[in-house]
Amino acid sequence: MPYREELPYDEGPDNTIAFLNEGYLYITNRRIRFNRDMFKTRLLGGKQVVCMAGKEAAEVFYDNEKFKRHGAAPSRVLNTLFGQKGVQTLDGKAHEQRKTMFMNFMSKARLQEISELVKEEWMKQLPKWEQQDSVVLYEEVKRVLSIAICRWTGVPINSQDIGILSEQFGDLFESAGKIGIKHIKGKSSRKSLESWMEELIKTIRTGESVVSETTPLYQIAMHRDLDGSLLSKHTAAVEVLNLLRPTVAISVYIVLSALALHDFPDEKDKLKASDEKNYKMFVQEVRRYYPFFPLVPAIVKKDFLWGGHDFKEGTLVLLDVYGNNHHPDLWENPSNFNSDRFKDWDKSPFDFIPQGGGDYITGHRCAGEWLTIEVMKTCLDIMVNKMDYTVPKQNLNMSVRRMPSVPKSGFIIQDVQRI
Ligand code: HEM
Repeated sequence: MPYREELPYDEGPDNTIAFLNEGYLYITNRRIRFNRDMFKTRLLGGKQVVCMAGKEAAEVFYDNEKFKRHGAAPSRVLNTLFGQKGVQTLDGKAHEQRKTMFMNFMSKARLQEISELVKEEWMKQLPKWEQQDSVVLYEEVKRVLSIAICRWTGVPINSQDIGILSEQFGDLFESAGKIGIKHIKGKSSRKSLESWMEELIKTIRTGESVVSETTPLYQIAMHRDLDGSLLSKHTAAVEVLNLLRPTVAISVYIVLSALALHDFPDEKDKLKASDEKNYKMFVQEVRRYYPFFPLVPAIVKKDFLWGGHDFKEGTLVLLDVYGNNHHPDLWENPSNFNSDRFKDWDKSPFDFIPQGGGDYITGHRCAGEWLTIEVMKTCLDIMVNKMDYTVPKQNLNMSVRRMPSVPKSGFIIQDVQRI
C-alpha cells in the first residue's frame, strides 16, 4: 500500500489577507508551525492550494509530466507583471520553441555586450551624481538599466522619455503584489508600454522602421511559432517587454547588493583586490539571502501521488522560492550573509532557486538568470572599485509585505566621487 498522509491545513475560507500581510514569510511561517514542508490552504477567493518547499519538492514541481503553467498565474499578475500569452503561460513544445528564442539571446557575446552597456550608462551618470546632494540609488539604477536594455534589445528611445519609461517599467514589477492605486497604475503602464511596442513591431514588419536583424527586437518581431505564423503583434510586444521589464528589475538586486556592502563590511573588504569568482559568490549570496520572487505557481496536469499526498488534476500548487533559499536542511545558518557558502555549492538546479529551478529550455527557469548575474557583477565592481560614496542615516528597513522588497529609502547615497 503506498504511503499516504493527510496534509496539514491552514484553516479559513480564504487566507489571502494573511498571505498579503505575511508576504514572503506566509509559507515559511506555516511550514514551521505544521513542522511539514507541504500544507493546504485557501487563497485567491477560496481556491484550494497546496504550498510546498524543499529540494525534492522543487524537483517534482519542475517535472513537466506532473505540472503545467497554462492557467496558473492569477490575472492580477498577467495584467501587470507578465502580460497575456507570453512564454510564462505556455507548455510543452510551444513553450520549448519560444523559450529557445529567448535562450538564443543569452550568448556569451551578448552577455558581455549588456555588461558593457550598463557600465557605460552608469559611468555617464557619475558626474551628475557627483554634483547632487544625494542620490536615490534605486531610482537612478532603474534609469541606467532602462537605457542599457533598450539599446541592447534594439528598442529606439529618446533621452527625454527615459524618466517616464523607467517609471513605467518599474510599475510593472512593483504592482503585481499590490492592491488599489499602485495596482491600477501597473495595469495602465502595461497597456501603454504594450501599445508603444505593438506599434514598433508593426513598423518593423512593414519595413517603416529599420532595425538591425541581429537585435532581439527584430528577432522577436519576426519570430515564427510552431505553426509557422508570426506572433500576434500583442504577443510579440509582450515578449519584448519580457526582456525589458525584468532587466530593469535587476535594479532591486543592485540596491540589495549596495545594502549588503553597507551592512556586511567584511564582505566588501573581501571583494577589494579579489577576482571574478568572489564577485560571483557575492552576487549569488545576494540572490539567496534577500527576497525577490516569493513563489512560483503551477497546476497539476494529471493525478499523482508524491510525499504521501494525492495531487489532483487542476490543483494550484505554489513552490516556496524564498523558503527554499532559506531552508535549514539546504543551507547552513541560512539567515547569515556569507558569500563563501557558494565556494562549494554543487550547482543543484533545485535548492538555490531565486529565479526558478530546473532546466532553462524545457522548463520555466528564468531566461535572464545569466544576464542578471553578469549585470549584477558589473554594477558590484563599479560600486566597489569605481566610485566612493557615503551612506547617510536613513530608513533601510525592508518590508516582508512589499514584493519585491527594497529598503524604504530606496538606498540614498551622498558624497559620490569617481575613483
Ligand atoms: C531581477 C532579476 C530576476 C528575477 C528575480 C527573475 C525571476 C524569475 C522567476 C522566478 C521566473 C519564473 C520561474 C518559474 O516559473 O519557474 C522567471 C522567468 C522568466 N524570466 Fe526572469 N528574473 C529576473 C531577471 C530576468 C531577466 C533579466 C530576463 C530577461 C532579460 C528575464 C526573463 C524571464 C523570462 C522570459 C521568464 C519566463 C521563462 C519561462 O516561462 O520559460 N528574467 N524569472
